[in-house]
Amino acid sequence: MKTIIEPFRIKAVEPIRMTSVAQRATLIEAAHFNLFALKSDDVLIDLLTDSGTSAMSAAQQAALMLGDESYAGSPSFFRFEAAVKNLMPFKHVIPTHQGRAAEAILFSILGGAGRVIPSNSHFDTTRGNIEASGAEAVDLLIAEGLDPDSEYPFKGNMDLARLERCLTEQGDRVPCVMLTVTNNAGGGQPVSLANIRGVAALARRFAKPFFIDGCRFAENAYLIKTREPGQSDRPIKSIVRDMFEGADGMTMSAKKDAFANIGGWLAMNDDGLAESARNRLILTEGFPTYGGLAGRDLDAIAQGLKEIIDEDYLRYRIRTCAYIGERLLALGIPIVRPTGGHAVFVDARRWLPHIPPLKYPGQSLAVALYREGGIRCCEIGTVMFGQRPDGTETAAPMDLVRLAMPRRVYTQSHADYLVEVFEELAGHKETLRGYKIVWAPRAMRHFTARFRELN
Ligand SMILES: Cc1ncc(COP(=O)(O)O)c(C=O)c1O
Repeated sequence: MKTIIEPFRIKAVEPIRMTSVAQRATLIEAAHFNLFALKSDDVLIDLLTDSGTSAMSAAQQAALMLGDESYAGSPSFFRFEAAVKNLMPFKHVIPTHQGRAAEAILFSILGGAGRVIPSNSHFDTTRGNIEASGAEAVDLLIAEGLDPDSEYPFKGNMDLARLERCLTEQGDRVPCVMLTVTNNAGGGQPVSLANIRGVAALARRFAKPFFIDGCRFAENAYLIKTREPGQSDRPIKSIVRDMFEGADGMTMSAKKDAFANIGGWLAMNDDGLAESARNRLILTEGFPTYGGLAGRDLDAIAQGLKEIIDEDYLRYRIRTCAYIGERLLALGIPIVRPTGGHAVFVDARRWLPHIPPLKYPGQSLAVALYREGGIRCCEIGTVMFGQRPDGTETAAPMDLVRLAMPRRVYTQSHADYLVEVFEELAGHKETLRGYKIVWAPRAMRHFTARFRELN
């Protein structure tokens, strides 16, 4: 098979500022070994997140100029609404400034003390908004989703038997069922069409509204096309429409699969819920035809939604992660398999067994990738999840490092460079050291904690 090339040419470039190993050693020490504290100018390849970091197309840049900034009834809103409905035909589409704003509005209405909201895995902002309303967020992922070595093709699936039990036992306490596609909190793993339909059928049987967190819907649709029997000949758009057919609504961060740098939406069919949501939107985001966004942002999303379902793009996108994953595995570096849509997750605990979990092997690898190669990525392990509300700490289930790929930003030689940096580290990985946290806030410590490198 020929190389799957980037299906675009580059018309505008953004220079990367080169730095040396010695410079980066000083910079990361000054940042107290926390990668969030670095200036992005000091990073060569930024794999911290795929959210809001996409490169816009020439057509999106042109669409920005069409943005109409009228307070009410802007044509930008109607273009945005039509583009969403073209893929997800919900009756009401309510723009928000990003995904978590859609979640905050939804759960301010459906959440509340004593309620229970099941999902495959809630993303942290979804969980945060549910818990802030007083409700409980419950994850019902299939067992394969928690096994990094399982090659099961749909490790983002909901455990339907557990969902049925939850709906039976919790009854009226459940105001809705959620499903995240792809499952970001579980390694970017996809959910099969059969499973989406199974969740929809259960929700219907128990008369519960079914909401999809659709941030990476197009990557999920491509993985359905390539991994689910009987789907390979179908256009992406038709798979997307099937994914949302049985749902009653969705939350969305347009910073992912809409190629936008900001934006999101909340959509639903129910008129009463939509009215409550719009009332809340006016208080917190803005008038219902702009919802916290500029007209130009709405146009960028409308154009982005046309581009994201392009199969050549999705083939290259999914191949990028698979390629990096294959090369890391060839070097003997353990990763979460199979690679999903937007990121490669390296199992730092297994690769660096000399660093115990409470000395943060994921943080050690993340710092080493920066020092050695100027690569910024994110620890998803004991630093992020190990802090308990009473101030004690416990090892997270896994110590992973997430290499999240911004959309259309980096080329294959950047991917090759990333692999070379891992290769260098592999040559002296026993010398990587653990870390101690010397200061941390009471919650969400990974963003601002300060570390000391151990001897
Ligand atoms: C699955 C999922 N849901 C919701 C969100 C929240 O979106 P936003 O960052 O736009 O608030 C994210 C962001 O990373 C996500 O990955």
